[in-house]
This record gives sequence, structure tokens and C-alpha cells, in this order.
Amino acid sequence: MIKNICCIGAGYVGGPTMAVIAQKCPHIKVTVVDLNENRIAAWNDADVENIPIYEPGLSTVVAEARGRNLFFSTDVDKAIDEADMIFISVNTPTKTYGVGKGMAADLKYIELCARQIARVAKNDKIVVEKSTLPVRTASAIKEILEHTGNGVQFQILSNPEFLAEGTAIADLFAPDRVLIGGDTTVEGQKAIQTLVDVYAHWVPKDKILTTNVWSSELSKLTANAFLAQRVSSINSLSELCEKTGADVNEVAKAIGLDSRIGSKFLKASVGFGGSCFQKDILNLVYIAKSYGLHEVADYWEQVIIMNDHQKRRFATNIIKTLYNTVSGKNITFLGWAFKKDTNDTRESAAIYVADDLLSEQAIIRVYDPKVSEDQIQYDLNYLATRSSVQNAQGVQVLQDPYEACKDAHAIAVLTEWDEFKTYDWQRIYDGMLKPAFVFDGRNLLNRSELEAIGFTYYAIGN
Ligand code: NAD
Ligand code: UGA
Repeated sequence: MIKNICCIGAGYVGGPTMAVIAQKCPHIKVTVVDLNENRIAAWNDADVENIPIYEPGLSTVVAEARGRNLFFSTDVDKAIDEADMIFISVNTPTKTYGVGKGMAADLKYIELCARQIARVAKNDKIVVEKSTLPVRTASAIKEILEHTGNGVQFQILSNPEFLAEGTAIADLFAPDRVLIGGDTTVEGQKAIQTLVDVYAHWVPKDKILTTNVWSSELSKLTANAFLAQRVSSINSLSELCEKTGADVNEVAKAIGLDSRIGSKFLKASVGFGGSCFQKDILNLVYIAKSYGLHEVADYWEQVIIMNDHQKRRFATNIIKTLYNTVSGKNITFLGWAFKKDTNDTRESAAIYVADDLLSEQAIIRVYDPKVSEDQIQYDLNYLATRSSVQNAQGVQVLQDPYEACKDAHAIAVLTEWDEFKTYDWQRIYDGMLKPAFVFDGRNLLNRSELEAIGFTYYAIGN
């Protein structure tokens, strides 16, 4: 039975996942380690509301388990040494250099973890891939562990995470399934069972699926590819709806009632964001190409092409509608996070829409209820390193939505935060320059209410 778990990587996955394991299994000591000292300090902040990740319900779970059997530390070696089971939950971004640049997953952080585990481990351990990895990564980890280790035995499991940000705690409490892949050997099956026993403390046994390692690794990429494909599918039709007078919400409802299609993940938007959909599809495309499967690669690449088109088309529509120039005009962004209920902005559509508008010399003001000004400036600086945009400093971040919308020519809704629906839109209208425009990239607001006030209202897909 497992008594001591270490998780390398205290990010959006490692933090919440381990907090829930610790809460549900008080008899297991769980230590989450990270190289990032600031992040660990924030996880240890005396005020639990200051933990580094905003996620509904997370602070309550952390408050219950932290200091009891949940610990956050920068002492990676010590945690590895003490653990029976080590989760690797580090980032696996798209490569920005060398072979596979812009497509393949960068596995340098994974390899560093494997080498560190090999160096430190003095007794047998189960190593669990929690990060999303290309199919067959486990064999590379195994080789490193076996060739650089101290002669101890390692079992490698794949246990990809399916939580979505904004609903991470609910997803972890009641997952659709937990997937565990391992070797078909007796030792492999024993390791699988050990991890099954951890999850079985709160997940019904019939929801814990066990497979071979390769199926597990590939299923994670596949799940994200299918989800993203649904968003790109409905987004592709949103453009056709705008041309034909069909309403994308009505179309989504009509098709979603077919139980074979299902109603979820059919919300047309300004484009999907987040750290994973694009990265994981690019990775899938790269793997398919590396096996010479060009038709397979092209098929999935189209999901990304469609998503880029959707973000660009939203910005182009703003420019066109504002009489073909936004130079010197005030455009207020409501929302910067890639979806509601998270402070994560990675690959948020807002960043790309801002890029296009800044290139046309628009003045952008941003209000987001959870994203910090530092983060927004960081995203804009990052943008400046990759594009021609040099005027990111022309972006102002405000703490009050009404202030942010004052004297604006147009408002763009980039994130579907619930609070935007509750605003006094008459007051916002009164403070804006006329004619006043709202470009709703989330189909969030009420068209008839806004038009009755006097807004010119555009929503994706209708
Ligand atoms: P993240 O960037 O938030 O966290 C990763 C952490 O790992 C960082 O804090 C980093 O400092 C740390 N780290 C990197 N190398 C390290 C090392 N050698 N030693 C110690 N710490 C190290 O990333 P994330 O969003 O938590 O994603 C982690 C993995 O989980 C990725 O593979 C991702 O694809 C996958 N995933 C993410 C989500 C999500 O919703 N974010 C969901 C499912 C799966
Ligand atoms: C996604 C998956 O849903 C998780 O199962 C997976 O674990 C995770 O990626 C991962 O591997 O990182 P996440 O990116 O956190 O989770 O959030 P989603 O709810 O999937 O939303 C992704 C993007 O798609 C957001 O920008 C969202 O606004 C957009 N979206 C989603 C739409 O535009 N329309 C929809 O109908 C659904």
C-alpha cells in the first residue's frame, strides 16, 4: 500500500490533483515539489486564498489537507527519496527550437525529472506520467531510469489527467473515468493495481479503466483532439450561420439533441484557448507525420487552422465594422482568461485578438475579474517578442469594468465570465462613445436587451 506520494510540478494539474488525493486519502503523505520558489511560497501562503491557482473549491480542499498530509516544497530530492510513488506533472510545451519546432512536445522537463529520479532513488518506485505525453514516451523514461539509476526497480505507469480548468475540483471529485496504463507483465499489473487502490478511495471501480501504456498515452491526445475538433466544427459553421441567417445556438441545440452527437462542447466562440488543445493536436500531427501518415496529420491540423481563422476573423470583423479603421480607437476587452472561472491565460484568444487590433493601432483596455495586471503585461510582452507589435504598452488594465468601458468605441467580450451578464448595460452605454458597439465572442449577452438600449450588437454565429 502506498504511504508516501511525491508529485513533481506544482502547476494547474499537479496542485489540484494532489490536493484532492491528499484530501481523499488522509493516510497518504503527499508532497508536491517544484523548482519555482515563488509558486511553492504561494501554495504555502498562510492565507489560503493566495494560492497561485484560482479554481472554484480548490482553496477549501487545500485548507483541509495542507499541513496534515499535503505539503508543498522546493526540496525535490528529499521528496523523491521518501516517496513510494512519484507523479511527473511538469509542463510539456510545444518545442520552440530544433527538430519538430512548433509541433512536437518539448520533453526536456520530463527527461530532467527522469534523470533526477534515477539519481536520487535508493529503493523501488512507481513512476506515474501525469503530464500529457507523446505515445511511447514511457519507453524513453524507462531507459533513462534503467541506465542511469542505482539498480533499483521502476515501474512506469501512464495516468493522464482529464480535468478542465474552472471545473478542476468537480472533475477530480467525480471524474468520467480515471485511465491507468501499465506494462502487461506481472510487475506492471501489480503497479497498476497499486494506483487503482489510491483512486478507489473515492472513484467507483467501474470508472477506473486500465489499459496498456501506449493506449493510455494516446487516449489523452485523442480526447483533447476530439474535444477541440468539436469546437472547431461548430466554429466553422458559425461563419456560415452569419452568411445565411441561421443562428448557431439554434443549430447547436438542434444537433445536440441527437444522442449520438450530444449537447456538450458545441458552444461557438472566438476560438478555443488554453495550454493544451493546440499543443496536443500539434503533437498528434507531428507523431502522425513522423510515421508517414500525412492524411491523418492533415486531417487534425485543420482543427488548428480553423481555430486560428476564427480568432483572426473576430478581429477583422471588429476592424471592418468600425469603418475599416481602429487606429486611435478605444476598444475594451471584457475578459482575458481563456475561459471563465480560471486565472489562466495561456493561448487565450484574447491575446491573439489584441495582437491583430494593436497592429492596427487600436488602444486596448482590459478588465478581467481574476487575471492580474502583471499576467496581462506578461502575455503582451510575450506577444511583442513574436510579432511585429511594439506598442503593447498602449494596453491599459483596469480594476473596474465600468471605468474600463468609459469612452470606449467598442467592447469585445473575450471570456464568458458570468458577472458580465449582470452588469448595468444602460450605464455602460451611457459612458461610451456613440455609436456604441459590442462584439460578443462568447454569445454571452442578450441581443434584444442590448439592441433596445441602443448598442450595435454582433455575436459569433448569429
Ligand atoms: P504548469 O506549467 O502549470 O506546471 C508545471 C510545473 O512544473 C511548473 O510550475 C514548473 O516550474 C514545474 N517544473 C518543470 N520542470 C520541473 C522540474 N524538473 N522539477 C520540478 N518542477 C518542475 O503546467 P500544467 O498546466 O500543470 O500542465 C502539466 C502537464 O499536465 C502538461 O503536460 C499538460 O499538458 C497536462 N495537462 C494539463 C491540464 C490543464 O488543465 N492545465 C489538464 C490535463 C493535462
Ligand atoms: C481541456 C479538456 O476539456 C480537459 O479534459 C483536458 O484535461 C485539458 O484540456 C488539458 O488536457 O489541458 P481546458 O482547456 O482546461 O480543458 O478547458 P475546456 O473547457 O476544454 O476549454 C478549452 C477551450 O475551448 C476554452 O477556450 C473554451 O472557452 C473553449 N470552448 C469549450 C469553446 O469555445 N466551446 C465549447 O463548447 C467548449
